[in-house]
Amino acid sequence: MTIDVGSIEEFPEGRALVVMAGRTEVGIVRWSGAVYAISAICTHQGGPLCQGVLAARLTAGRPGEMLIDDAAPVIACPWHGWEFDVASGEAIWDPTVRIRTFPVRVANGRVMVETETRRGR
Ligand code: FES
Repeated sequence: MTIDVGSIEEFPEGRALVVMAGRTEVGIVRWSGAVYAISAICTHQGGPLCQGVLAARLTAGRPGEMLIDDAAPVIACPWHGWEFDVASGEAIWDPTVRIRTFPVRVANGRVMVETETRRGR
């Protein structure tokens, strides 16, 4: 089911805002011109994930090096600091641990989130 969650102008760049998409709490993130939709609830113990810090991903090619990957936002849960890749939903420390992500697109200035696949007719 595709749900209109608001005008793109309602979602400021660099923040995660929680909206209701049907019965699902979804965090809408605008980052470097892209739009993402993630679960608003942390996988770990149900913390308010979208109240956490949103930042560019830090990587390192070798010891002592630090690279900023501005194309890959990461959100850190405010309760215990677990960090997740906003695009994939994977935890930074273990890609088998994930938050839910949702297909999202902008159409005619509206943010459209797909929360569930309709089954049958
Ligand atoms: S509830 Fe999010 S890290 Fe623990």
